[in-house]
Amino acid sequence: MNEGKLEKIIGFCKRRGFVYPSSEIYGGFAAVYDFGPYGVELKNAIRDLWWKRMVKDREDIVGLDSSIFMSPKVWEASGHVSGFSDPLVECKKCHTRSRVDHLLEEIKVVADEKMSEDEINELFEKNKDKVKCPNCGAKDFTKAKNFNLLVKSNLGNFTGDWDKEPTYLRGETCQGIYVNFKNVLDSSRVKVPFGIAQIGKAFRNEITARQFIFRTREFEQMEMQYFVNPMEAEKFYEVWREERWKYYVNDLGIKEENLRWMKHANLVFYARAAYDIEYNFPFGFKEIEGIHNRSDYDLTQHAKHSGVDLNYLDPKTNEKYVPWVVETSAGLNRNFFTVLCDAYTEEKVGNEERVVLKLKKELAPVKIAVFPLLKNKPELVSKAREVFDQLKINWVCEFDDNGNVGKRYRRQDEIGTPYCVTIDFDTLEKDDTVTVRDRDSMKQERVKVKDLEKYFSSAFGVK
Ligand code: GAP
Repeated sequence: MNEGKLEKIIGFCKRRGFVYPSSEIYGGFAAVYDFGPYGVELKNAIRDLWWKRMVKDREDIVGLDSSIFMSPKVWEASGHVSGFSDPLVECKKCHTRSRVDHLLEEIKVVADEKMSEDEINELFEKNKDKVKCPNCGAKDFTKAKNFNLLVKSNLGNFTGDWDKEPTYLRGETCQGIYVNFKNVLDSSRVKVPFGIAQIGKAFRNEITARQFIFRTREFEQMEMQYFVNPMEAEKFYEVWREERWKYYVNDLGIKEENLRWMKHANLVFYARAAYDIEYNFPFGFKEIEGIHNRSDYDLTQHAKHSGVDLNYLDPKTNEKYVPWVVETSAGLNRNFFTVLCDAYTEEKVGNEERVVLKLKKELAPVKIAVFPLLKNKPELVSKAREVFDQLKINWVCEFDDNGNVGKRYRRQDEIGTPYCVTIDFDTLEKDDTVTVRDRDSMKQERVKVKDLEKYFSSAFGVK
């Protein structure tokens, strides 16, 4: 993979209706994207598959859909108000806060905003005797700390200076899970060990807006928090690492050589252990999911700040404790991007090039395309319509009678449609069979119209 491939994928996404830049007719809007007709089908297919594996297939995990807005106290308790940020320094004398990169710019030292906290601290340390506080002129600063990534809003605040007491758009979905921990315990039959899963939007004031949909300011997370006895946290951490790896390889069909584990050397404020699953994007290996041992950090913080007891009473042993949490946190947009990059293939067919999305069949935005061989033969068109109407009851289908059949195959290959069904003269005049053409092998076979249902049920699996 290479940078050229990234450009190709970006162009492909726009051309074939997968992803568009936001507000494009107004010149775009940085780090925000929209999903087009095929994009939304693919994204929903990934979302539904995750939900099936994490909730529907299991007895020990329940779902939740909490709000994007929560009490600002949630984000104070969670530590996000104080510790979820990009590099800033504070003057030790007058407590004025300044952006480190801006201060360095003043003395003609270029600081890259993409630098890690350690790198920027090192650079600041080297130059700090030349840097003055813009307010009092002192040269005594704290170490660089990061600028807060939470997106603020004036929801429910009708005063002019609402930003003194803002509400926040959630920076991660899991906080909605922690604050509902007691509700779920009291209203369902879950017992430790158990999980709560949720899919939803999250927002971050990301400074770095690049690499297409990899890092955006609005995105979707698919998070699951597994509540365990503290003595079992390490065991379940390993169980969940294994499960999540299998999901990428078996469920999403990602090539294993394009995946790897990355152990965090520097842990974020809430984590006892953290591993990322990384994918080999056109710009290199980058995180697609984090698996974290969050200990009892979040529940303890919320118990302390809310005054509500969030202990769990084990019904068998009568032991009382705050459960520890093993978190699996995936980005839906990054899952989508991973699937696209892994499936996007250019190959030679005879003298021609074809672009084909080698998606797992279950994920394809269109499952079956139906064609009449010729557009200007009403009897072929009406038979094709009949077949289309029959198949679209169970599968997402597309009817296409535009251009020659070869062109129609190429169009469907590009969006990853696993099967194309063509109605020809043999269908009408001979044996009521159609050709079914396979996207990957490009082989065709004749199948009786009355057997199509059975054929595709076995190809896609019964729902
Ligand atoms: N609750 C833990 C948490 O939010 P994180 O590592 O900050 O951990 C988890 O985020 C996942 O969310 C990432 O692995 C990534 O897939 C996705 N994600 C985070 N920030 C993102 C962004 N700005 N754009 C797209 N996806 C993002």
